[in-house]
Amino acid sequence: MTDDRDWWRTAVIYQVYPRSFADGNGDGTGDLAGITARLDHVADLGADAIWLSPFYPSPQADGGYDVADYRDVDPVYGTLADADALLDRAHGLGLRVIVDLVPNHCSDQHALFRRALAAPPGSPERAVFHFRDGRGPGGDEPPNDWESMFQGPAWTRVTEADGRPGQWYLHLFAPEQPDWNWDDPRVHEEFRTTLRFWLDRGVDGFRVDVCDAIVKAPGLPDWPHAAHGVVEPVDGVMPPMWDQEGIHDVFREWRRILDEYDGQRILCAEAWLPPERVARIVRPDEMHQAFNFAYLSLPWDADAIRATIDVSLAANGAVGAPTTWVLSNHDVMRHASRFGYDGPVELEAGVGVDDPQPDRALGLRRARAATLVMLGLPGSAYLYQGEELGLPEATTLPDAVRQDPVWERSGHRIRGRDGCRVPLPWAADEPSFGFGTPDGTATWLPQPDDSGAFAVDREVADPGSTLSTYRAVLRTRRDLDVAAGPLRWDGDRTGADVLAFSSGAVTVVANLGPAPVAVPDGTVLVASVPDAVVDGMLQVDAAVWIGRG
Ligand code: GLC
Repeated sequence: MTDDRDWWRTAVIYQVYPRSFADGNGDGTGDLAGITARLDHVADLGADAIWLSPFYPSPQADGGYDVADYRDVDPVYGTLADADALLDRAHGLGLRVIVDLVPNHCSDQHALFRRALAAPPGSPERAVFHFRDGRGPGGDEPPNDWESMFQGPAWTRVTEADGRPGQWYLHLFAPEQPDWNWDDPRVHEEFRTTLRFWLDRGVDGFRVDVCDAIVKAPGLPDWPHAAHGVVEPVDGVMPPMWDQEGIHDVFREWRRILDEYDGQRILCAEAWLPPERVARIVRPDEMHQAFNFAYLSLPWDADAIRATIDVSLAANGAVGAPTTWVLSNHDVMRHASRFGYDGPVELEAGVGVDDPQPDRALGLRRARAATLVMLGLPGSAYLYQGEELGLPEATTLPDAVRQDPVWERSGHRIRGRDGCRVPLPWAADEPSFGFGTPDGTATWLPQPDDSGAFAVDREVADPGSTLSTYRAVLRTRRDLDVAAGPLRWDGDRTGADVLAFSSGAVTVVANLGPAPVAVPDGTVLVASVPDAVVDGMLQVDAAVWIGRG
């Protein structure tokens, strides 16, 4: 990497979900060798970096976000040598590599948690997690009323060495994911070591999983309000498990470590908070980026989109940080399907075969327009593997194959996130659509039968495909430095039906209304769909980038 200009301020970062990107050994699960072999796809797309979701040793109780060893590779994904080879190949292609850091919790198979279980109540071993006695007679009730994000209580009771029911431990997610206690200096030490381990191997940064939960309010007070999606304060008070003041000291500690390294290594916050609270995480001595989930959560509504863009740019701008846009990831319904429903959808709830199905043509058309809007905004942007193909959510998966822990934990009420995690289609006419080897075993989640229509080899050959559009947008974005901004709204055109703004040398216009609208003067550089402009009119649910002059 030679260009060390603040690369992350405008970077397009492509999320790779290792289980589902490419399977190099034909065992039905993606792996690091598979990723390395397919990295040219990401480079050809025009991304600047990849973010890899966890590939560390894990029992996979939550798709690898239950980490048993932060400093190794799960055998199903390969070896540390494979990770090194991936880094070499990516850097050779000019792609930076960000890995996932999961500091809120580990796996219940992590050595330190096994040690804590074997040690008695009150021991130093237990102090690196949140162990507490239960409430009520015999300590039979959980220590407080917190709910797990995956349903049910956020506490699980352990059996002590004498065989009796004992203390409880805190897990904001699944019981297999005990929360670290960040009040204990040994936890800090553990993560400093992990950061250095991967930085020394050459990674360019970390996406930090649920970073806003790592510090809990003292005394772990009750909190009767469940939180899903963007977490808002209640009566001005943040929930005791989210966005506590102490998180910022931890981020500063990590930032100091990253800054010791050359080449601008970065931290990107995963924190489902409102823009003004997210902005506090990207102050100059904390993280570099934070996903804008308020933006991701919006329906296809011009007023709402415009308002959130303004609030986000203002909040981040006030602390000198870029805004980091995102429309899809491994936790939410793919935007090509989300926009195929009228109105807002539950992002993480999943869709079953008997549920109302999205209008796929409408969803994809709007998704492509939404992508042109997002990539025209100043700042950085994250893409999720498959969105460049217009891949829809898998909405007809048989319930029997579901893996998301929320499906079982909700008593089969909430289907969860498997629908956005289905293995990618690479080649329309090959077994597993080219995801695995020709003689490979069945993929870990079944691919929908019509996946071939979205396969990379099909779309590369079609100038009107979603993939060709993404490539064109990213090329133009880079050539014209569009993401450097600044953003200026075209006040005459922008309204309830239309978003129109300029960023750098490009004017972006999107029609979210019910009727065609006039296209401004200039050359159409990129169109969201081939029929976006007809007789000088921008069609419904379409967007264009126009060059000025
Ligand atoms: C984050 C991850 C999600 C995971 C959760 C618990 O939200 O993106 O996939 O389930 O954290 O680690």
